[in-house]
Amino acid sequence: MKFFLDSANLEEIKYAIKKWKIDGITTNPRHLMVAGMTVEDFAREVKELVEGTHITVSLEVNPHLEDPKEIVDQATSLASLSNNFVIKIPATESGFEALAELSSKGVKVNITLVFNLVQALQAARLGAYYISPFVGWREERGELNTDFINQIVKAVKGYGYSSQIIVAAVRSAKHFVEAALAGADIVTAGFQVYKRAFDNPYTRMGLQIFSDAWNSIYGR
Ligand code: E4P
Repeated sequence: MKFFLDSANLEEIKYAIKKWKIDGITTNPRHLMVAGMTVEDFAREVKELVEGTHITVSLEVNPHLEDPKEIVDQATSLASLSNNFVIKIPATESGFEALAELSSKGVKVNITLVFNLVQALQAARLGAYYISPFVGWREERGELNTDFINQIVKAVKGYGYSSQIIVAAVRSAKHFVEAALAGADIVTAGFQVYKRAFDNPYTRMGLQIFSDAWNSIYGR
């Protein structure tokens, strides 16, 4: 399973590429707002960091756009900036119409804001490169995710579609477990979610025990 970082913070991205060997970056307008950047600024900066690597960067189109042609135009223009860019388009009727056009032109699309299996299948049918079901948002509304992710992975892979499933809006190590057990291709999570997931109190406790043993062998 690949690990993606969900962020528009360039320092976090540099850190995750260098130290965690992250496989990809996803971002959205909220991350850009926090980072104080336009999508064009971010595209310019992040391109320098990923060019010549396998790391994909998913950039979202303007969420106000409702006309599929306008979505296609912005997506095409963003995609032309780098081979590493994948364009995030919402799972709406207009988004799906734009997806069909973009797939036929060879533009890689990440269908975002996916909350049910039908949206995921429509994305897969029309050639989405990535499909992003949002588990954290569902869970915040009291919905369970294990079957949700399982069904999407089973259906998309079972019918032989090539789309990769990104489990998104990940909040905890538990979501990584659910994603991995379902056979999802990718998890995308924020910087602090990784920091917490990589840390474990038993690991720290074990280190203390082994350090004490080391000291009694070698002295301090
Ligand atoms: C994924 O591609 C999204 O950017 C992300 O997971 C959205 O959710 P969040 O910002 O609430 O985590």
